[in-house]
Amino acid sequence: MKNDISNRQDLYLIVSEFYKKLLTNNEMVHFFEKFKEDKTLEKHLQILVDFWDNVIFHSGTYRKNAMRPHIELHQEKPFSEKHFEIWLQLFNQSIDEHFEGENTNIIKNRALSIAAVMRIKTINS
Ligand code: HEM
Repeated sequence: MKNDISNRQDLYLIVSEFYKKLLTNNEMVHFFEKFKEDKTLEKHLQILVDFWDNVIFHSGTYRKNAMRPHIELHQEKPFSEKHFEIWLQLFNQSIDEHFEGENTNIIKNRALSIAAVMRIKTINS
């Protein structure tokens, strides 16, 4: 039996494992080149923890528009269906390896619905 996601430390574990997978995935790594540098990666992981902390625990830690950087990135390095599939698969894998429960289901469902909106605002627009 695994624990449910319950704090920022759990979220940090998820995003750091997730980025290890993204940075070693041949289809995804070109989006994440700047995060090969440890300091840049660390700063980014803290932003992702803030984002998910806000989604799950309504902490007020993230107030920006997360869509915008993706719309800009898509102009430079186009996203495809395959990229979204891989993103979601690696994200879910990073979660399922460590956690199960209500918050675990909430975070995976939210990722899926945010990805659906992001798809519409990038490859389908
Ligand atoms: C094809 C799928 C995706 C790719 C290639 C991708 C790539 C990236 C990259 C390269 C950045 C860094 C942007 C920068 O700092 O200039 C970023 C930031 C971020 N991504 Fe994604 N992303 C994807 C999908 C998603 C999804 C589905 C979510 C949410 C469920 C998400 C959440 C975020 C957040 C919260 C940030 C931080 C934005 C900020 O700095 O305020 N991404 N993404």
